[in-house]
Amino acid sequence: GVQTCALPILSKQTTLSPGYVPQDLQSVPVPVAVRPGIRLRANALAAATELIDAAATQGLRIAVVSGYRSYQEQEGLFNGYVQQMGRERAERISALPGHSEHQLGTAIDFGSPSNNYQLEENFAQTPEGRWLAENGVRYGFLLSYPAGKEPVTGYAYEPWHWRYVGIENARNVAATGKTLTEYLATR
Ligand code: DAL
Ligand code: ZN
Repeated sequence: GVQTCALPILSKQTTLSPGYVPQDLQSVPVPVAVRPGIRLRANALAAATELIDAAATQGLRIAVVSGYRSYQEQEGLFNGYVQQMGRERAERISALPGHSEHQLGTAIDFGSPSNNYQLEENFAQTPEGRWLAENGVRYGFLLSYPAGKEPVTGYAYEPWHWRYVGIENARNVAATGKTLTEYLATR
């Protein structure tokens, strides 16, 4: 069913309805976003802007590469991956429609010109990826799919995919060392 609580759990086991669309989506301006047309919920956009500005003061270039995706967009993306690589591999790197944090409007794929904005594991080794890993929580973001957590999350390592949960939630969850999904499931 539709998740309406402030911090909904979203996993391979829990679903958003096709009609779930956040009501406060805003356009992400370039150059906070790498291209026009990306949208995020208002709070996530404000936090991402602060994070990107802070990184810029360190000479680092971070941009939003993807944000909100509708159920239908996720369906198209997932089906494309299945065509490309088969269902088994597709399910490791892409959520099924109704299961993506991108449908919440609070998940962001961050990229950097350091690796040509590629959403690849090597983003973790760029100066920007390293800075994000160290500082994301301070801006209210959690890394949804950390390295070594595939048995828990069901997804391969995504050093670029961060979910905005607010600074207090991010600190509390990070202090446990658990992923958000584990934290919410066992709370
Ligand atoms: N790549 C992540 C798992 C998604 O499709 O939401
Ligand atoms: Zn993502």
